[in-house]
Amino acid sequence: MKYSVFILLIIFLSACQNEGLDESYQNLNDENSDNENIFLDLELPSNFPEPTYEIENNRPTQAGFELGKKLFYDGKLSSTGVISCGFCHIQDFAFTHHTHVVSHGVNGALGTRNAPSLQNMIFMEDFNWDGSVSHLDAQPIVPITTEFEMNESITNVLTKLQNDEEYVQLFNAAFENDTIDTQNMLRAISQFVMMMVSADSKYDKVVRNEGSHFNEMEEAGKAVFDQKCAGCHSGSLFTDQSYRNNGLPIDPQYDDEGRMRVTGEEADKYKFKVPSLRNIAVTFPYMHDGRYQTLRDVLDHYDSGVVQTQNLDSVFIQENGQLGIPLTEIEKDEIIAYLNTLTDDNFLLDDRFSEF
Ligand code: HEC
Ligand code: HEC
Repeated sequence: MKYSVFILLIIFLSACQNEGLDESYQNLNDENSDNENIFLDLELPSNFPEPTYEIENNRPTQAGFELGKKLFYDGKLSSTGVISCGFCHIQDFAFTHHTHVVSHGVNGALGTRNAPSLQNMIFMEDFNWDGSVSHLDAQPIVPITTEFEMNESITNVLTKLQNDEEYVQLFNAAFENDTIDTQNMLRAISQFVMMMVSADSKYDKVVRNEGSHFNEMEEAGKAVFDQKCAGCHSGSLFTDQSYRNNGLPIDPQYDDEGRMRVTGEEADKYKFKVPSLRNIAVTFPYMHDGRYQTLRDVLDHYDSGVVQTQNLDSVFIQENGQLGIPLTEIEKDEIIAYLNTLTDDNFLLDDRFSEF
């Protein structure tokens, strides 16, 4: 099923790309001259790589952002009227589904994966634990149409929006062609998600020389991390965006094949996207199925819980045939202190993104 969604997305995306993203960009410019729809300032942090999202094709405007925000927090996008994007992606926890091992959607239906954090999405090449979606604009189609998430059809969502006077006005303000259609809806949601850049943690202030310094513990943690973890959780995004098997015991309940669901390749079985570790202190539970409650549990896994399964990473997780990443108890404390410097309260408490 996942596979067919993926193919549909490709078809959809190539269609909307041809339909003239350039044209809409032009329209936005025109619109700017005769009404109040101002472009928002999307600041790109100096310690980050270039964005992968082509911002020029869908530059966030005040009206587009406000519309995207309303859509993000609106249960109308689901069949029962209560499950919004924000239901599973809660800002205080870096837009994860706090306390939920795997996400749950309409009528309490259980999914199979843990909701990832939403931050710095414009720097990502693919989305989801298996990379099943490769364009941010297409991502909302998955939760909206997935049975155990929002369980709704795009056509129904559009009809609901078209019958709502407030949405008619918001779409008018946000898009020159005034139309409530799939493309405008997705672009508006992207304009909201696009602004979620988390780059103001203590870590950032240290690396950008903004007057902060690591304490001894954090400094020591950084050294261990750089040596033992940064092979995969690399750079300022804390992910190299590759797919790897980090040695989790296979959970027979889900038997999630990870990246293989997308590529069909045996060589990708049990590989998952290396997640970003930004705001990691608040995004528990951890891993694609939310199996670990604490960072300590995660470190115990790397130290002594790694098991040999198909496609276990051969570069960083097993040295000289020795499974796992050996860590002393002190090193674990140090790594946790370092990871805590990735918490960005200005992002977690930023009013622009909050529901109320
Ligand atoms: C029922 C809970 C639920 C709802 C509702 C939901 N999501 Fe998600 N979201 C998830 C889960 C779980 C994943 C990971 C799915 C996977 O890996 O297969 C995810 C993944 C994502 C990602 C990719 C993140 C990454 O790091 O790759 C984005 C972006 C996203 N969701 C945005 C949205 C938007 C926008 C909406 C509303 C249209 C939404 N989500 C609704 C649970 C939910
Ligand atoms: C071989 C690459 C690799 C190395 C080395 C590695 N990780 Fe990971 N890490 C991953 C992958 C892949 C996942 C996701 C696995 C899954 O959910 O199936 C992950 C998940 C995590 C998570 C959970 C993130 C979340 O959002 O749920 C944390 C925390 C973490 N790693 C920290 C570390 C630390 C600390 C180290 C060093 C001791 C480390 N990792 C070394 C690849 C790696």
